Formats: sequence, C-alpha cells, structure tokens
Amino acid sequence: MCGIVGYIGQSQAAPILIEGLTQLEYRGYDSAGVAVITSKGPRVVRAVGRVRDLEAAMPKTLRGTTGIGHTRWATHGPATLENAHPHASEDGRILVVHNGIIDNAADLRAQLSSAGVRLTSDTDTEVIAHLVSRSTAGSLEDRVIDVLTRLTGTYAIAVVDADAPDRIVVARQGSPLILGVGEHEMFVGSDASALVRHTSSIVHLDDGEMAAITADGFRTFTMDRRETGKVPERVALDAADLEIGGHDTYLHKEIFEQPESLARMLSGRLDERFATARLDGLGIDPRELRGFKRVKAIGCGSAYYVGQMGASMIEDLARIPADAEAASEFRYRNPIIEPDTLYVAVSQSGETADTLFAVREIQRKGGRVVGLVNVVGSTIARQCDGGIYLHAGPEISVASTKVLTHMAVGFAMLALTLGRVRDLSYADGARIIAGLKSLPEQVQQVLDTDDEIAGAAASLVGAESLFFVGRVRGYPVAREGAQKLKEITYQHAEAYQTSELKHGPLALISTSMPTVAVVPNDELVDRNIGALQEISARGGRVLALTHEGVNLDGLDVQRINVPDGEVELQVVLLTVALQLLAYHVATQLGRDIDRPRNLAKSVTVE
Ligand code: AGP
Repeated sequence: MCGIVGYIGQSQAAPILIEGLTQLEYRGYDSAGVAVITSKGPRVVRAVGRVRDLEAAMPKTLRGTTGIGHTRWATHGPATLENAHPHASEDGRILVVHNGIIDNAADLRAQLSSAGVRLTSDTDTEVIAHLVSRSTAGSLEDRVIDVLTRLTGTYAIAVVDADAPDRIVVARQGSPLILGVGEHEMFVGSDASALVRHTSSIVHLDDGEMAAITADGFRTFTMDRRETGKVPERVALDAADLEIGGHDTYLHKEIFEQPESLARMLSGRLDERFATARLDGLGIDPRELRGFKRVKAIGCGSAYYVGQMGASMIEDLARIPADAEAASEFRYRNPIIEPDTLYVAVSQSGETADTLFAVREIQRKGGRVVGLVNVVGSTIARQCDGGIYLHAGPEISVASTKVLTHMAVGFAMLALTLGRVRDLSYADGARIIAGLKSLPEQVQQVLDTDDEIAGAAASLVGAESLFFVGRVRGYPVAREGAQKLKEITYQHAEAYQTSELKHGPLALISTSMPTVAVVPNDELVDRNIGALQEISARGGRVLALTHEGVNLDGLDVQRINVPDGEVELQVVLLTVALQLLAYHVATQLGRDIDRPRNLAKSVTVE
C-alpha cells in the first residue's frame, strides 16, 4: 500500500525512481508520480494508472540527481492526477511523498484554507508540503520537525526543497521506510525490493526516527533532535529473486517454487537426535516454553487462517489450548492479555498495521509475542520479542501463496517444539520430523497434478457462488481456499464448517452453487463423506480435495487427490492444491492475477 522511493547522488534520478517504483508495484497502488530537482527548478510528473503510464508521461529531458517518487493507494480522495503524489507547496519549491494517514488532516486543511492557502487536492499529504513551506524554522530538517510535531496519525515521508537540492529529509511514524547506502549516492524505499538492485547496505528507520540524506551519507535522529547514529546492515535479498523467470505471473512462480523454498526453510531447523525443531530465534528457553498455558495466533486475512491451522497443530501436538484471532478485531476489543499465554504474530510483509498494533497492545499489557514473519528486518519482526523467519523469499503477487505454506510449516515446527518440552513422545516427534522432511517432495507431487486441477477448475468457472467446506483441521484450509478464489477470480465463495451445513446453508445448495470439500484422511473422514452425500442428494456438484485412500465410491463427486501424510501436516498439501485451483479459475477468466482489483499486498494503514 503506497510505495516511496528517493534518490540523491551522481546519477540521473528519474530512471532510478521509475525502476524503484516498478519494484514496489506489488504493494498495490492506483496512481504514481515523481519529482526531480532539475537545473531549472523542481519538475513533477504524475499519472493515474500504472508506473508504465508514468514512464510514458516522463519528458526525455528530466535531468537531475535528486528526486522522490511514489505509488499511491487512494485513501483521501479518488485516484486522480490531482491526488497523486508528490504534492507541492504553493510556490512549488517543497515536494512531499507520503505513505500513511494523517488523522488531523481535516483540521489542518481548514486552518490552511482560512490562512488563504489554495489546496489543490483532496489528500491529507498536501498539508505537509504547505506547512513545511510556511514554517519559519531554519534548515529543511528543522522545518520538517516543526511540521511533524503538528501531525497526528501515521506516516513515512520524504521531503525535498528546491532551494536545498543537496538533501532529502525523511521521517517514519507507523509506516515503513528504509535507506539504502551506496558509493556517493543514497536511496530511500518503502522496502528493500526497491533498492536491492543498487545496494544491499540498508538502514531500517524506527518509528519516531528521521534522516537527512545527502549524496555522501546520512544522519539519523529523532524528532526531539537526538542523534540515533544508525549504522547500515546487509540484506540478503538477491535481485534475481525478484525476477519472474519463465513464468507468466508471479503467482505461478511463487506456487511452483514451494518445494525448493520449503526445503530451504527446513534446512538446519530439524533436530533428529532429540526429535524436535531448532528455533533459536524464538529466544525462549525450554523451562519458559513449558510454562505457557495457552497459545494465541494473531494475523489478518490469510495469515489469520493459517493461524487457525497452527492452533490445531499446537493443540494436537503439544496439547496446549490454542486459538487464532483476526488481529484487526483483537486490537480493538480491549483484549485480556494473560502472562502465561504465548502470542504469535503471523505476517508475510511484517508491515500489516492491524497486526503491528495488536503486537504493541499485547506488549503494552506485558504479554510475550513472537513473530512468524517473512520479511527480514520488517517492523513486526523487529517489534516482536523473538520469532521464526519464514525464509520464503520475496512474494510479489498480491495474493499470498508460498508464504502461507511456510507459515503453516513454521507453526508445525513451533508445535513440535512446544510438544517436545511437554508430553509429545520421541516417536511422535520423529514422525513429525519425517513428515516435515517429506513435505517438499509431496508439494511437488501436488504441483505435478496441475493439469488435472486445471481441468477441475474449468467446471467452477462462472459459478454464481461456491461453498468451500471443511471441518476441524480442514476448516481453515477451506477458508483460505475460498479467500484465494475470491481474491484472484472475483467469484463469490463462502467457507463453512462442513458440520454446520445442515444448520442453514444447505438451503442454498443447487446445481449453480458448487461445493469444494476438504476431505482429509483423518478421524472425521466418514462424517465428511456423509455431508457430501447430503450435498449430492440435493443436486449440488462437489469437488472433493482428498487423498487416494479415501473411498468415495458411489458418490457423484469429482475428486483431486493430494498425497497423504502425517495427519497434522495434511493442511499444507491441501492448501497448495487450492492455490492451484484458484490460479486456474482466474486464468480461465482472464483476470489480472498478480494485481487483483482493490487489493494491496501490504496493508500499512488501519
Ligand atoms: C492473502 O492472499 C491476502 N492478500 C491477505 O489476506 C494477507 O494475507 C493479509 O493482508 C495479511 O498480510 P501479511 O501477511 O503481510 O500481514
């Protein structure tokens, strides 16, 4: 959601800004713009639509070595040219890009209007440009500080002043922002993907922190002018990881790289001698681990559904009561935080505002939170008291696939660890380790059924609506399956517990409402088959996601078999099959698979 880039150095800024914005496209946006300080003064170019539309609108002669750029996700006002960033002061000398929401923007806009300032956009951001311009403080840094003390809300901003073209001033409060350090050049980005082609030397800014950057370096400080002396860290992100390779879409690439990425994630983390997992990043010793009486996972959207899968694994393997809750709800309901509960924050981006605030709320009340996070150095990863990095590599497609599988495997390792400091036997621990080791190959076997899944998908294209059903372990799989289908196909799908069908939704079953049923080979298989009979008897079409050993003879259902494995880990393979199903329905409908409408990859506003 909104992306910021900035450049100051010896090279031409414009192509670097465009390239950085292209890398940030995956975050979600509906307009884009850049400002470059040229020898004739500042020049702003903006466009509604894609970064390629912006590139097409760029004059060939946009020369200058200082600039800022932005992809905007509309919040205050629609996606129009006037609302696109950068925003400028009335004299055009101060230029600002911003990610976040200024809560008191309406008041500030009113004050500026009554002072005679002509506002040209509907945005909250524009006020920052006017206020910096009107500030009587000395340097650009001081003027930005002066303005920030008047703002409430969240922001990452980058500000340039045409009268001080040797610097960019940036600040962060609640929205991500990093610096990249090069040789006589500096970069600014919302995340490392925007910078990785230029440098792997990164500075993560903290909330309340600012930086003044010049071609020759940077200075970090707080809003009360305390120097923070940040030093750069190396990021292990390879530019090649961001390439689409031979795939048509990033979603396809990300689904198909799961066997390899899972093997990488598991490598070095399984301790066969003690039949447990090695999760040093948790930073919790076995005695403390034994002390937790409950586990609660929090996350948003798909991360929440995987949290539900994880809660089942923890209850199954560690016999500790566990549940999951949407972080977006949790944080607003004055949650009761128990000292002997282990909270697990689940997030791909590590920047989801609702999850981040939930983490802070737990910590504020003295709770212990660990993260299951993919992006190394992200805000949630740094905010948590420890965690498990998912090592899935960059996920570019807006709809999450491979990272969800990694999250489920992360939970399996956590459940194994919690189980083995309690009553999970060595034999069961060894069984789960063997199951985890088999997963990369089994995921490959699911991917090998791609043609078959594409065939099954054809029968779902154009359905008015679909049910996804599952129970107990299978229910979060059904929820995630419905979510994936909705996100990338725009077909309506609703997830239900299979057991709840006859308590109401069975009334909707008809030939135009197919059901995708998750039927693992577990203790509930007979009950699940019974439910399929009820659906078929009412004329409902059923696609069952199941295993070869499950006997569906005599039932009029289509089936997709995924490899059978340890019952606690079946969710991983079932989830992968549903990813392919959604992908094929979306492809057959000709959807924009990597960038579904209205969705952002990283939801950094509340
Ligand atoms: C997944 O396909 C979705 N795009 C969405 O539900 C996502 O999982 C959610 O917004 C949480 O994001 P996070 O993992 O980056 O925190």
